[in-house]
Amino acid sequence: MSHDVEDPAAGTQAPDLDFEGTTPYEDYVQADVLTHLQHPLSEDPGEMVFLVTTQVMELWFTVVVHEWETAAKALREDDLPGALAALKRSAYELLSLNASWEPLAHLTPAQFNSYRSALGEGSGFQSAMYRRMEFLLGEKSASMLVPHRGAPRVHDELAKALHEPSLYDEVLSYLARRGEAVPPEVLSRDVSEPYRPHPGVEAVWAAAYARQEDGGLGTGAGAGGGENEVVRLGEALTEVAELVWRWRNDHLVATRRAMGSKVGTGGSAGVAWLEKRAAKNVFPELWTARSHV
Ligand code: HEM
Repeated sequence: MSHDVEDPAAGTQAPDLDFEGTTPYEDYVQADVLTHLQHPLSEDPGEMVFLVTTQVMELWFTVVVHEWETAAKALREDDLPGALAALKRSAYELLSLNASWEPLAHLTPAQFNSYRSALGEGSGFQSAMYRRMEFLLGEKSASMLVPHRGAPRVHDELAKALHEPSLYDEVLSYLARRGEAVPPEVLSRDVSEPYRPHPGVEAVWAAAYARQEDGGLGTGAGAGGGENEVVRLGEALTEVAELVWRWRNDHLVATRRAMGSKVGTGGSAGVAWLEKRAAKNVFPELWTARSHV
């Protein structure tokens, strides 16, 4: 008597096996390229997941930058639904990005030490894609270009992002075109400088949230569109802001667990420096306005 388990797919048409060259999957995904970019520098088996998690995060940074650039462009064209869709996608992506901390969130100092020296002076601080995310949030800084002087493509992309309006700049210009009282000096600011919170912008958000009609972000019966649209945009941005804040804080806690208060491989004070970075509010007035609604 045969003990063969019956193939549940038997009788249905099987996938194609025959391809002239590389598979169409490979041609599209470049999985062979992607899965051969891992070159650990130590003998420690734990280094692989450190390296891959970092690469995975770089890929998510790339997607998130794409979404925020899409949202900024949509706002420039007064296409609010397009901007909201991109921001919503980015929120799901940020959730995935943040979930990627798990394999690195429980390292002991000894585990981290077993490959830390292989990193040399390498540090996430030198991530150009993370810097593009920060630039899009309005956290501009010309000095963040300096580490990339030796890499022309990276440097050029970052320089372009420095001089372009951030996502938040595009939000405020869009609100002004809708008739919101965004202060002129905010609209004409030097966009290569870090965005500084402005009481006039806080007042715009506070007024929009105060006018909110149905408490349901414009989705309920009687949603009037107009006023609720501003709140809907505000909430989509708040979601993004919170998830970025969570990434920073998850990074901070993982770092504290892995290396206590030692100096960072990138030369900073380590946790003490990261604490200051993590304390920053993304889209600051969206948080402070809430006290005035
Ligand atoms: C447990 C593992 C990790 C530790 C202990 C750690 C440690 C640090 C430290 C100490 C800094 C401050 C700069 C320095 O002196 O090096 C830093 C910055 C940074 N790290 Fe990590 N890191 C870890 C994992 C990661 C991963 C997986 C990423 C993903 C790309 C990452 C991205 C960053 C970024 C973007 C910064 C700059 C933050 C800023 O400019 O505000 N880190 N990290």
